[in-house]
Amino acid sequence: MVNVIGLGYIGLPTALMMAAHGVEVVGTDYDEGLVATLNAGRTTFKEDGLDDLFAEAVTKGVRFTTEYQKCDTYIVSVPTPYDKVSKKIDPAFVVSACRSVLDVAPVGAVLVIESTVSPNTVDRFVRPLLDETGRQDVSLAHAPERIIPGNMVFELLHNNRTVGADDPAIGKRVAELYSSFCQGEVSVTDIRTAEMTKVVENTFRAVNIAFSNELARICRVGGMDVAEVVRIANKHPRVNILQPGPGVGGHCIPVDPWFLVGDFPETARLTRMALETNASMPEYVLRRAFDVMQEKGIEDVSHVGVYGLTYKEDVDDVRESPTLQMLESMERHLCGSPLRVYDPWIERDVVPNQVHSMEDFLDGLDIVIVMVGHSEVRGRPEAFHGRVLVDPRDVMGDGENVYKL
Ligand SMILES: NC(=O)c1ccc[n+]([C@@H]2O[C@H](COP(=O)([O-])OP(=O)(O)OC[C@H]3O[C@@H](n4cnc5c(N)ncnc54)[C@H](O)[C@@H]3O)[C@@H](O)[C@H]2O)c1
Repeated sequence: MVNVIGLGYIGLPTALMMAAHGVEVVGTDYDEGLVATLNAGRTTFKEDGLDDLFAEAVTKGVRFTTEYQKCDTYIVSVPTPYDKVSKKIDPAFVVSACRSVLDVAPVGAVLVIESTVSPNTVDRFVRPLLDETGRQDVSLAHAPERIIPGNMVFELLHNNRTVGADDPAIGKRVAELYSSFCQGEVSVTDIRTAEMTKVVENTFRAVNIAFSNELARICRVGGMDVAEVVRIANKHPRVNILQPGPGVGGHCIPVDPWFLVGDFPETARLTRMALETNASMPEYVLRRAFDVMQEKGIEDVSHVGVYGLTYKEDVDDVRESPTLQMLESMERHLCGSPLRVYDPWIERDVVPNQVHSMEDFLDGLDIVIVMVGHSEVRGRPEAFHGRVLVDPRDVMGDGENVYKL
């Protein structure tokens, strides 16, 4: 039996996928409301295919509880934020969850950390717990997750995976467990390599995006079209530049690379600069919108609105989103954030001046900053009924009233 600890964006689909493929699974989360929702037969976030997967897993007997279980394998999938000052990983959630596991785990259990962690986290923060509790009989493994919100169900099935373990036999056992549903290749290695590999993957993307954002700024000054430059450069067989945009959000790319900066401040200089470049983009978009206001002779910022609150298209996750970063920076500089905001994926109130229909949103607006290319507007400037569009993601096509990065 497998006990998945932490039923958020990663733990829940993982638990469901295993259960749907015949593994006996109990999901544990200390959030009573979340567990009650799942037990009432509802999923807790929107994701393509998740409801069907949920139904199948329930049929196969998956259970949800706030209690840690006695079983042979534990998968810990709890948050791993970074400390905003030291830039190092904050391992508190992982440590606390592992401690709770060790309280109940039977002899010979395997404790798999699935949360993304900085290299050496297991050795520094988890292994000492085994000594402290006298539980050297429990084996440790690390199996980081790579799936992307919006395509989680497909990617759980098809992505390649990494499993790190001290003992290759344990690595093989954990790889077999994931292979119950994963059709990709599962690479087995040691724990520290697995930790580093996961952080490196997200750092690679952060650096690539930062390069692209820098190109966008160079092209703006130099009077060149960055989209055209990137499109043509990518025809080179060994060039693959990602798209520039209004910043980077979500729980991974703006977070995980800081682990390297925190632990290796003298050496991770390129990484730090990339993160700072990406973090400067929401404010860059704001300045671009002010330039457009000037060009159009619009003086009142209440005529400017922001479409999109989530960190990417067609998900309901707002964590670290460029829009939130942009509104925060407005508050810092202007002591207030009067911009009206609308996101069809977010029903709850997240920011003060948020409305809940396109009609209310567009009422009285002259300029819309399209921060997210949700499918309902992507490639459809007419969805904004003639408003001037600031389009940092380049999703609205070309037009006289469309202003790109
Ligand atoms: N979200 C992503 O796209 C993504 C992708 C790949 C990897 N990751 C990594 O996966 C890990 C989990 O991320 P997430 O997005 O699922 O987080 P999340 O915040 O959506 O979910 C975490 C869940 O863990 C629960 N929890 C925390 N501490 C607990 C404890 N001690 N016992 C029981 N439950 C506990 C919380 O209540 C929450 O429901 C992180 O390390 C993240 O970096 C996330």
